Amino acid sequence: MCGIVGYIGSRDAKEILLHGLEKLEYRGYDSAGIFVINEENNGHLFKEKGRIAALRSKVDNAVEANAGIGHTRWATHGEPSVRNAHPHQSADGRFTIVHNGVIENYQEVKDAYLEHVDLVSETDTEIIVQLIAWFAETEDLDTVSAFKKAIVALEGSYAIALVDNTDPEVVYAAKNKSPLLLGKGDGFNVICSDAMAMIKETNQFVELMDKEIAVVTREELIIENFSGERIERQSYTAELDSNDLEKGTYPYYMLKEIDEQPAVMRRLVLKYQDEDDNLTIDPEIVSAMTKSDRIYIIAAGTSYHAGLVGKELIEEMTNIPTEVHISSEFGYHTPLLSENPFFIFISQSGETADSRQVLVKMNEMNYPSLTITNVAGSTLSRESTYTLLLHAGPEIAVASTKAYTAQIAVLAILSEVVGSEKGLIKEPNMIQDLGIVANAMQSLVDEKDTIESLASDYLSITRNAFYIGRGMDYHVALEAALKLKEISYIQTEGFAAGELKHGTIALIEKGTPVIALVTEKSVAGHTRGNLQETKARGAHTMVISMDGLDRPDDHIVIPKVNPILSPLVSVIPTQLLSYYCSLHRGNDVDKPRNLAKSVTVE
Ligand code: M6R
Repeated sequence: MCGIVGYIGSRDAKEILLHGLEKLEYRGYDSAGIFVINEENNGHLFKEKGRIAALRSKVDNAVEANAGIGHTRWATHGEPSVRNAHPHQSADGRFTIVHNGVIENYQEVKDAYLEHVDLVSETDTEIIVQLIAWFAETEDLDTVSAFKKAIVALEGSYAIALVDNTDPEVVYAAKNKSPLLLGKGDGFNVICSDAMAMIKETNQFVELMDKEIAVVTREELIIENFSGERIERQSYTAELDSNDLEKGTYPYYMLKEIDEQPAVMRRLVLKYQDEDDNLTIDPEIVSAMTKSDRIYIIAAGTSYHAGLVGKELIEEMTNIPTEVHISSEFGYHTPLLSENPFFIFISQSGETADSRQVLVKMNEMNYPSLTITNVAGSTLSRESTYTLLLHAGPEIAVASTKAYTAQIAVLAILSEVVGSEKGLIKEPNMIQDLGIVANAMQSLVDEKDTIESLASDYLSITRNAFYIGRGMDYHVALEAALKLKEISYIQTEGFAAGELKHGTIALIEKGTPVIALVTEKSVAGHTRGNLQETKARGAHTMVISMDGLDRPDDHIVIPKVNPILSPLVSVIPTQLLSYYCSLHRGNDVDKPRNLAKSVTVE
């Protein structure tokens, strides 16, 4: 949530910062700003409400500057407005900062130190910059000391970049909980929330850790802890192909990412195959899982929905009891744990604050954990015992699609390897099954015209909608409903088909779209019966079924795949329905209102 960038070098800082912010726009897009400064100490601040494009048109191209910081915002404190947009400056104009995170004790800090200051914004961030100025002035501290003293007083999460107008040769940075990277260049250095922002400039990055400060000049990156001890840390090479970050000929990233799913399935099989063409997983992970008496899957949003499918796969193939929990609930209302728990964190970004707070607590209890993520080197990946990567390529649309199916596929591969190790699976066939899934996905992404016309017919004017299903289909119904509501703004519920009649059926009225998922033989008839009950009350019904369980009037028939992998395929038409519905309503498909891709606040 919120993206920050910084640059110090000899080139046009404005352009580098704006380009970086465009790449970070997925982290928040309600306002944005940059502050640039040149060697003659001339600083220029530009802020605008809305997207980076709006900021770009406001920036004065004549300004010459070779250092600066920038921010794209997802509002936490204070409405989206120019006044609340970052960067924020101290009252004396000396210090300028950008911040990602939430300062929980901002009111206390304000009362203790800043009663004399007239704050100009409603943000928690302004407190930080005013506090730095206060310590610098009243205690005659140099910038690093004032910065340290201020952040020691703060509680909460932050990634901060700071410029002191009196010394334009340095950009400062610090972090706690929120992600921040330092990028190394030849004659320049950069700061960013995500390597994507600066991959055009460099692929060499150094992670800044919690409670460290970085002093960044053109030539040097100095990292120190709060006691002033210098920390040496090797850089790593970010393996990002800048072409993967572009939409190419697609109108939206979401459509590109939906289309990439068959290729992701095939890539995953290759990535997790050994020289003998068998699926393989780090033996330490297999052993840790085998030893555990209960698995706890922790995740949020779409990743949580992948976890629900994952539970079925793990229990079916490994016989290990598995629970799935919403991360924002688990950390503060932890259930009674088993004797030997094993934690699986599922997170596309690897940065979700709700999941991270659980991981921090479980680490304190020394429980082993595995993060399944798309981002190597992400916070959750670094802080858990083990990592498995999704290899899905960057997912940029806020609505998650290819990460969901990759998460399920990795969980399927993991389950089969563990099940085989336990002697429960005699003839592993996940490689073939995932190949069949990839082909099935391809045939559905090739059916766009049919799905687009169903979206027009069913979802163009409706106010609310339902997805229903049982078992695996219920899990997919939850994901399908989330996808539709987040990008179309239609109030959609994913519901256990059999549960409707216990109350929720009262919401069905003439024309309400109810979409049933029917891929499981044992409950197919029941789900169809439940759909009929809604039709009898006026619902506009649609069926997505699997080949072999289909009936002549079904609207979408997905090819036959191993039923335990059906979510990988049945979800595809629901993703496309959401996409076309959002498109027809004139929404920004990739950047739906009020949301951000990487949710780094609790
Ligand atoms: O990066 P994560 O997988 O941890 O993110 C979790 C959720 O914020 C995310 O899945 C969210 O629900 C998506 N916008 C759904 O499309």
